[in-house]
Amino acid sequence: MKRALSAAMLAAALVGTSLVYAAGPAVDQQKFEENKQKKEWMSQGGERDEALNLKPNKDNGRDVYEVCSACHQPEGWGLVDGTFPQLAGQHRSVIIKQLADIRDGHRDNPTMYPFALPSEIGGTQAIADVAEYIAILRMNPENGVGKGDDLALGAKLYADNCVRCHGPDGAGNADKFYPRIQGQHYEYLVRQYRWIKEGKRRNSNPEMVEQIKNFTDKDTLAVLDYVSRLKPPADLVAPKGWKNPDFK
Ligand code: HEC
Ligand code: HEC
Repeated sequence: MKRALSAAMLAAALVGTSLVYAAGPAVDQQKFEENKQKKEWMSQGGERDEALNLKPNKDNGRDVYEVCSACHQPEGWGLVDGTFPQLAGQHRSVIIKQLADIRDGHRDNPTMYPFALPSEIGGTQAIADVAEYIAILRMNPENGVGKGDDLALGAKLYADNCVRCHGPDGAGNADKFYPRIQGQHYEYLVRQYRWIKEGKRRNSNPEMVEQIKNFTDKDTLAVLDYVSRLKPPADLVAPKGWKNPDFK
């Protein structure tokens, strides 16, 4: 199986060219097209539950992650400008859910989709393996933050609207698939939040959508600025300048 990301493939994906794959488990294209029409938070019958129950192989996870590292960076830290999210330290359950949703059409991600296909990285076991690898990578000590000009409003909005799911420090809840949002790049938080609010992120949680429906743009930026400054526990964060020795 091809693991390394070729420059040509990356270029093709970035301009949106569709690629044809010969090898690997087949994708159910009809199901994929059906799912693309749906708005569903917890889909039934996809790879998610199966991947959650497989015993992960971290060594294979490392091999799979090589293709991901081209965008999410070898450390899993993403980019401060939010183009690519930080994945390091995210709950395994959340990574599995998002990856399964992207693969089966419940979440749009045309940039990444060709690299997440079974023909590229393998079947459901690969999802379990790579999620295990990513979840225990230590996090970016210098994530992107907002302007810092409206933090009191942000703190109030967070306490009133977000704590019950994402927790007081933004750690989320692995059992409930609530993502860790502490330490994430501000620009990525803003993009995802708007997409969740507008319904563009079709696999979002309907209770969250309801909770934030009256947020103004000022509220949105204030609360996410506050979130971007929430610190993950020190033992989850890497030292500044850490390089992942797996990808030297
Ligand atoms: C060509 C670039 C690219 C590659 C390669 C890539 N990704 Fe991504 N990935 C992205 C982008 C862009 C996003 C954010 C999309 C958005 O804004 O909705 C993303 C989002 C994600 C998310 C969702 C994160 C969240 O907070 O919800 C997960 C999980 C993820 N990627 C895992 C992977 C894994 C695992 C691999 C390797 C098998 C991989 N990605 C390869 C570009 C890439
Ligand atoms: C009812 C629970 C709930 C509430 C309340 C809630 N969220 Fe969420 N949030 C979720 C879930 C679940 C997801 C992941 C959705 C999915 O499965 O795709 C999410 C996703 C997000 C994301 C995208 C994270 C990523 O990695 O892609 C951001 C940002 C976010 N929430 C911020 C907030 C903020 C800020 C508030 C308060 C103003 C809030 N949420 C309130 C449950 C909630």
